[in-house]
Amino acid sequence: MVEKTMKKLNYDRSALIETLHTAQETFGYLENETLKFIARRLKLPFAKVYGVATFYHFFRLKPKGKHTIVVCMGTACYIKNANKILERLEKKFNIKAGETTKDELLSLISARCVGSCSLAPIAIYDDKTVGHLSVEESEKEAEELIK
Ligand code: FES
Repeated sequence: MVEKTMKKLNYDRSALIETLHTAQETFGYLENETLKFIARRLKLPFAKVYGVATFYHFFRLKPKGKHTIVVCMGTACYIKNANKILERLEKKFNIKAGETTKDELLSLISARCVGSCSLAPIAIYDDKTVGHLSVEESEKEAEELIK
């Protein structure tokens, strides 16, 4: 998705903001590796990409919470009830996607496609990817994560 956006814009450096938007929508937030990748592909200094990503408030560099759950809301996941998973987690932790609990224990993020559609629906609990997830399992995994 990110590569596609850069290609569509002919790897033009002025496409940086749009590329960062696509990356954030795709992965939920912008981690260093993503910024480095974009910098390389657009042939821009990392400092420039990082500078732009930190300048605009709508870009999220790193979730604030100690733990992060990324729920994929891409098409393949969505048609397999990803919205119900997200709703359950939002309700359980009393936050909306994109927010962090008050105690900063957990950030809940929604992403557009994390690239493993055959495992849909999918969520990533810190570094652990869980596919073919049911609503009940999604909650159990979350409880395990913050234990
Ligand atoms: S749509 Fe969820 S992994 Fe692709």
